[in-house]
Amino acid sequence: MITYDYNYLMTDHTGDEHGITPDELNTATQLTDKALSRMDDEKKQGALGFLDLPYDTDIVPSIRAFRDRCGDRFTTIAVVGIGGSALGPQALRNSLSHLYLNELSDEKRDGRYRVYFFDNVDPYEIRSIEDVIDISKTIFLVISKSGGTTETNANFAIILEWLKKEVGAGYRDQVVAITDPEKGVLRKVAMDEGFTTFPVPANVGGRFSVLSAVGLVMAEFIGIDAEGLLAGARNVIEKNHGKPLFKNAPLLNATFHYLFDVRKNKRINVLMPYTRKLFLFADWYRQLWAESLGKRFDVNNNEVMTGLTPVAALGTIDQHSQLQLYLEGPNDKVITFLKLKQFDDDVTIPEFYKGIPEMDYLSHKSLRKLNGFEESATELALKEAGRPSASLIMDRLDPHTIGELIMFLEMQTAYAGYLYNINPFDQPAVEIGKKFTFGLLDRPGFDQFKQKFELGYRKKDSYII
Ligand code: PA5
Repeated sequence: MITYDYNYLMTDHTGDEHGITPDELNTATQLTDKALSRMDDEKKQGALGFLDLPYDTDIVPSIRAFRDRCGDRFTTIAVVGIGGSALGPQALRNSLSHLYLNELSDEKRDGRYRVYFFDNVDPYEIRSIEDVIDISKTIFLVISKSGGTTETNANFAIILEWLKKEVGAGYRDQVVAITDPEKGVLRKVAMDEGFTTFPVPANVGGRFSVLSAVGLVMAEFIGIDAEGLLAGARNVIEKNHGKPLFKNAPLLNATFHYLFDVRKNKRINVLMPYTRKLFLFADWYRQLWAESLGKRFDVNNNEVMTGLTPVAALGTIDQHSQLQLYLEGPNDKVITFLKLKQFDDDVTIPEFYKGIPEMDYLSHKSLRKLNGFEESATELALKEAGRPSASLIMDRLDPHTIGELIMFLEMQTAYAGYLYNINPFDQPAVEIGKKFTFGLLDRPGFDQFKQKFELGYRKKDSYII
C-alpha cells in the first residue's frame, strides 16, 4: 500500500507565496475533467497499452516456462537495451533484489541469476563486463521496441560475435529478443534465427513498458515475483482510473505539479527516496517525466515548449550534497519524498563511547529510526523555508508495492501530459537525434542528416586549456 501525503504542498503549511490553495485546486477541475475524458477516450481507442499490461495474465506463465527450460544450465542474465528498455529493468533489479546480488555465493543466490546491463556504447563498460561474466552461462535479453536502436544493436553485434566464438552453434539458445510483436528488424532477425521472443505490445512505448516482458522476464530470473508487480499495478488502476480529482491520487499529484509550474514558476521536480534500493527507480522516473513532458508542440500544433525537469536525489546522502541548494537556492523546486514505512531488516547501533555525549547519543538507536528521523527533519526544514514537498509513503518494499508505485507514476505522467495538452507518449526530438547518428554512421537513406551535420558542425571557438 502507498499513502500519498500532500500537506506540505498547500499554502496552510508552505505559505501563500509558495503553496497551492484549495481554491486553486478546485478551479483546476475543469482541466482535470478534460484530462480524465481524454484518458478515457484514448483507452477506448486502444492507445494506452500501459493500462492493459497488468491484465495480461498469460505473460507470467510463459516467462516462467522459459525460466524453467533454462534451469541450472545458465547462471546469469544480461539486459541489452537503452532508455525505457533498460531503465525499467534496472529499477526493478535494485528495488527488489539484493543490492549486491552478483557478488553473493551460489548458495546465497539460491537459484537466482546474476544480472548485468549493456545499456551504453562505452568500451570501458563492455570490457569490464566481459571480464566478469561467464558467457557460456549467460542468457542475453536483447530489448528494443523498435528493433532499430543504434546503441542496442551495436552491443548486440559485439555480444553475438563473442557468443559464436565461445559457444558455437548453440548461441541461438542464449539470445532472447523482446521487441514489437510484428514490426522492426529485430523481430525479423529473431524469427530467422529462431531466438526465443517475447512481445512489447505495439501500443506500449519504451518508458511505459516495464510491466511488459521488458521488465518481467529479467524479474523472474532474479527471483522477483512478476505476478505481484502486476497485481500492485492493477490495484492502482482500479482505485484511481476514471475517478475525479480528489479521489484520484495520480491525477492530483499531476495537477499539483502542473499548478506549481504555471502559477508558481516551479519547474524542477526532485524525487528523493531514502534508500539506495530506490535510487535507480528515481532514475527510471527521470526518463518517464522528462521524455513524456518535454514537448515543443501541443496536440493542436501550437508551439508550447512544455517540460518539468526531473531530478533524482538520494537521502540521506544528498542532505550533504543538494539540500543546501534546495533550502536556500532558487525556490523553483517541488520535492517528492519516497518513504519506506518498514525495512525488512534493521541494524541497531551498538553502545558508542558511553560518557562522551557527542557520541553516546547514537547508542542503541536503530538505523531504520535514524533514517526516518533524517527524512522527517529534511521535510520539516523544507517546510520552514517555504519549499513545497509531498511524500509517497510505501508500506514496504515488495513486488506489489513497486507495481503500485510504477502505475502511480505512469498514470501521473499521462495525466500531466493531458493537462499541458501535449502528447506524453511520443519523443520526436529523440528520434531526430537517432537519425543524425544513422547519418554519421553512413546508414543508407540518412545522407541528408549527415550533410546537415557537416554544415552545422563547424566549431571554431575552442582552445586548449
Ligand atoms: O521511451 C522511449 O520510447 C525511449 O526512451 C526508448 O525506450 C529508447 O529510445 C530505446 O528505444 P527502443 O526500445 O526502440 O530500442
